[in-house]
Amino acid sequence: FVDRKNSYGPNIEIESEWTPFKASVDAFMGADTTWTAYPIVGGENLETDKVREVNSPYDHSLNVGKVYWSNTEIVNKAIDTADAAFPAWSKTPATDRAACLERMAELMEENYAELVAICHREAGKTIQDSIDEVREAVDFCNYYAQQVRQNFAAPKVFTNFQGKTQQSQLTGRGVFACISPWNFPLAIFTGQVVAALAAGNAVVCKAAEQTSLIAFRAVQMLHEAGIPKDVLHFLPGNGATVGAPMTQHKRIAGLAFTGSTGTAQLINRTLASRGVAPVPVIAETGGQNAMLVDSTSLPEQVVRDAVRSAFASAGQRCSALRVLFVQADIADRVIPMIAGAMKEQTVGLPYLHSTDVGPVIDEKAQKMLLDHIEVMKKEGRLIAQAELPEWAEKGTFVAPTAFEISSIDQLKDEKFGPIMHVVRYKAKDLDKIIDTINNSGFGLTMGVHSRNETTCAHIANRARVGNLYVNRDQVGAVVGVQPFGGQGLSGTGPKAGGPHYLPRFAKEQLV
Ligand code: NAD
Ligand code: ALA
Repeated sequence: FVDRKNSYGPNIEIESEWTPFKASVDAFMGADTTWTAYPIVGGENLETDKVREVNSPYDHSLNVGKVYWSNTEIVNKAIDTADAAFPAWSKTPATDRAACLERMAELMEENYAELVAICHREAGKTIQDSIDEVREAVDFCNYYAQQVRQNFAAPKVFTNFQGKTQQSQLTGRGVFACISPWNFPLAIFTGQVVAALAAGNAVVCKAAEQTSLIAFRAVQMLHEAGIPKDVLHFLPGNGATVGAPMTQHKRIAGLAFTGSTGTAQLINRTLASRGVAPVPVIAETGGQNAMLVDSTSLPEQVVRDAVRSAFASAGQRCSALRVLFVQADIADRVIPMIAGAMKEQTVGLPYLHSTDVGPVIDEKAQKMLLDHIEVMKKEGRLIAQAELPEWAEKGTFVAPTAFEISSIDQLKDEKFGPIMHVVRYKAKDLDKIIDTINNSGFGLTMGVHSRNETTCAHIANRARVGNLYVNRDQVGAVVGVQPFGGQGLSGTGPKAGGPHYLPRFAKEQLV
């Protein structure tokens, strides 16, 4: 074990997984390197009169670039153009569509360093998280390419007992709208868009207003990878000015959304009020994620997995741990260990290898989290709070904080950031605890730490969550290995990165 801080000092770079890429990433790290994003309609970059300056979450004096926002007129033009392009694209052989995705994966690998740099600057992610972000986007492209080859290239043939055959073919639905969040600004954005395209749809897409620069580069690369320019259109802007007109448009034939539960509910109402045929909505939303730790678990492993699940990516993962339930018999051992581990969390510049926790996305998020910390100071018991660096006010940092509370019911909604809540429970109350977690209505991830297989199986059987992780952390689902998505208030399914995802973007005809 090496104490990174004491051995190396906070500003000294050490060998890490990204050392080989450092020089190429650094080429994009000059203070004067900036990017610009535009609405792209029919392959044309459009300048508009509404411009948003982008400053880095870790240093507000660092300008990352600017984004020209779309407006209703541009949204309508994009959807009309996509609608006209749809028939030809849906008839393009599925193998050709798959080849575009595979080429996109190669292009992202060729432009790895730039994408890592934008992700780090614009979203404030650590370099390791930014590398993981690009990897996940590449994985989505290759995985959905493989899926489309398997399930869309040729019809599935069914034969009945008389030997008669019928065939079923999956095809695109029309114009799909894709709306994504800022917390996986490349991976989720790319995953949604390439899934919709691969299934044979034309696409209009909107990234979160905080992270349009990296999404713009992804759309440029998709066009370069062979997606026709009239098939894919990019519409940067916020929910009110761009998201609303997108979802009000009568030609939207399906929608993939990832973001907060409240926005998903609003979008659902808007789509339903259009007075046209109902369309599929794939919504992946928030969580109130718990980890259950019983007295047979290994405390050191619990601490490592709980701290990573709660504070990695500054707690800004939908999968992140929010409420740790510890069986009372071992709570007095585990809770002080968590406090100790949290003192070791380095909050700092996301560029440095020594940094564990970078900034939160913006001032609105920071204020919401700091307000919650103040409320919890009154309603709970402070277990530990990591230290902030002196210069933290340059950006939007929130110190990882843990509170002991008496019940998950004290939390009304998801607090999207580095705050963990800890609840003690008695072994006899395990089922009641699972029921209170279920009753939150959310059902995204759950962690279980126990050496008792019967307990693990019982919890897995009773809990209503999409992804349940046993004796490990509960973040970092891998495309094609741990398909990811929730239930109830946490999402409609099907799971991203899984075999059932693409068919939801398609219609099926049986002949
Ligand atoms: P958000 O709901 O504020 O925004 C998501 C997207 O919706 C953005 O592009 C936003 O501009 C757009 N939007 C907002 N209002 C809209 C409207 N009226 N019409 C159309 N579009 C609108 O969410 P966020 O803050 O960007 O992301 C964080 C949230 O995302 C958290 O709740 C997190 O749990 C969730 N999330 C879920 C998953 C998952 O897989 N379940 C993954 C990542 C993030
Ligand atoms: N897929 C992301 C994770 O598992 C949200 O952390």
